[in-house]
Amino acid sequence: MAYDYDKLYRETPDALGVPAPAFTTFFEGLGAQSLDVLDAGCGQGRDALFIARLGHRVTGIDLSPHGIRDMLAAAQRQNLAVTGIAADLTSWEPDSDHDILLFDRTLHMLAAPQRRALLNRCLPYVRPGGWVLISDEKRNLEDFRQIFAAQPRAWHTEKDSRGLLFMRRR
Ligand SMILES: C[S@@+](CC[C@H](N)C(=O)[O-])C[C@H]1O[C@@H](n2cnc3c(N)ncnc32)[C@H](O)[C@@H]1O
Repeated sequence: MAYDYDKLYRETPDALGVPAPAFTTFFEGLGAQSLDVLDAGCGQGRDALFIARLGHRVTGIDLSPHGIRDMLAAAQRQNLAVTGIAADLTSWEPDSDHDILLFDRTLHMLAAPQRRALLNRCLPYVRPGGWVLISDEKRNLEDFRQIFAAQPRAWHTEKDSRGLLFMRRR
């Protein structure tokens, strides 16, 4: 049975702790830009909130209503540009373009055909020069590499190590 993140978030504030250094370093390195970021599987906003604090506009999507509720409450307290959507990513598709798509430990939650389909649906919504940032099980990354390689638009590998795959659209 799939892990019940909604129960975890209902019972535990900041259940997943602080953001991973790979992501804080990446976003801090962007400098003073204000970008549109999609955080797919945002949980309680561990990433979405620090990204918005850097001045970006973040849309977070998660299956867990409690995760979305906690993220939006924190964003309101801190006056951050965060939008939250409670939705199932297996049937969701973006309705606008973004500069950065973030999948932080989300794709492995889906069955292989579903995570492949989600990535394929989302990639056309990344603007030229934009990024897709993935943290996932190492064994899943080969699938993701192949999906990027098969895209009609060219993607450049910015990082591929230790369960992290950062790709940039040319
Ligand atoms: C390991 S947690 C990571 C959360 C967040 N990205 C972070 O790093 O703090 C995985 C997240 O994926 C969400 N999730 C799992 N299946 C999902 C689905 N089908 N649609 C949307 N979110 C889903 C869970 O609710 C959970 O918040």
